[in-house]
Amino acid sequence: MELRKAGYELTHKRVDTYEAMTAALQDDEWDVVLADFSMPRFNAMAALETLKESKLDLPFIIISGTIGEEFAVEALKAGAHDFLIKGRLARLLPAIDRETREAKVRRERRETMEKLLVTVRARDEFLSIASHELKTPITTLELQLASGLRLLRARDVTEVPLERLESKLVVALRQVDRLTALVNHLLDVTKINAGQLTFSRATTDLGKLVDSQIARLDVAVKRARCEVIVHACHQVIGMWDRRTLETVITNLLTNALKFGEAKPIEIRVEREGELARLIVKDQGIGIAPDEQARIFQRFERAVSSQHYGGLGLGLWVTKQVVEAHGGNIRVESVVGAGSTFTVELPLGETTSS
Ligand SMILES: Nc1ncnc2c1ncn2[C@@H]1O[C@H](COP(=O)(O)OP(=O)(O)OP(=O)(O)O)[C@@H](O)[C@H]1O
Ligand SMILES: [Mg+2]
Repeated sequence: MELRKAGYELTHKRVDTYEAMTAALQDDEWDVVLADFSMPRFNAMAALETLKESKLDLPFIIISGTIGEEFAVEALKAGAHDFLIKGRLARLLPAIDRETREAKVRRERRETMEKLLVTVRARDEFLSIASHELKTPITTLELQLASGLRLLRARDVTEVPLERLESKLVVALRQVDRLTALVNHLLDVTKINAGQLTFSRATTDLGKLVDSQIARLDVAVKRARCEVIVHACHQVIGMWDRRTLETVITNLLTNALKFGEAKPIEIRVEREGELARLIVKDQGIGIAPDEQARIFQRFERAVSSQHYGGLGLGLWVTKQVVEAHGGNIRVESVVGAGSTFTVELPLGETTSS
């Protein structure tokens, strides 16, 4: 009555046993528990225990005609939020307001903590994967250099087979390339996180950029045994940041090589009105529908790190760069049949002719 008088619309349930209270807490969502101090088969302290058992963080307010000071103190110590005397309910509304507000603050704090924990865990996992990714080329590099050195020290320098030494240096250099790529990848991420990704837009030919990136990835293409077919329209020219756009092309192409199962990869560059479109299509392992949104997030991968190396950052970086250009990226994919990534970029001013 008191609450209705104050204009509250109430849903309430009266319970007077442990079982009934447990069921009520489970079946519905409540804002506050008001408890009498002693009832024939139940009492406030038992009700408070029942609430604690449910793990719900609800304000618990005792309203009683008989409560003595000692019991009141004991109840507050046990976790009750307030107590009121029947017939003197003026404090009821402010108490409910205050306690529900505080419960809300506690809930929000808990949710923030949980989110932080998830982030920290993701970061820990990322660090361990990143260390592993960095360690692999370092180990190979070390082995190649050490065995080259052994070769040089073991005999007369003039007898060292030069081709063996050369092949060791080639492998060593490849590891340095891999390390450089990894470190650049990490630097991009750090810059994006700090909001320091700098853009210098200049007239850029997308088709030519694709060609130069394919040439740069020549060794990786050969190793993946994928045929790369390019259909590029001429003159798809826009005002874009060349360096970050190279990253976009490289990330999509290295994914297609990695997940493409040695089948042909098609790259298309086309223009429609004021939009440039870059399409990278592979016929590899594909991505399940419920993974397709997740893979664009940081650290998120749809494959296990045992089978495929990688940090789970390529698509996230790609999306950030594309969006910073005012564009968008999407994927269409069928598991086992392949994936198609489509990037759309506005041409930007001064090139719309
Ligand atoms: N072409 C593709 N075919 C199938 N799955 C893909 C393809 N491209 C991306 N994925 C999935 O999306 C995930 C995220 O891709 P992303 O490029 O962000 O990370 P990564 O390649 O695992 O690591 P990184 O690029 O940081 O080295 C991949 O781990 C993979 O599960
Ligand atoms: Mg990748």
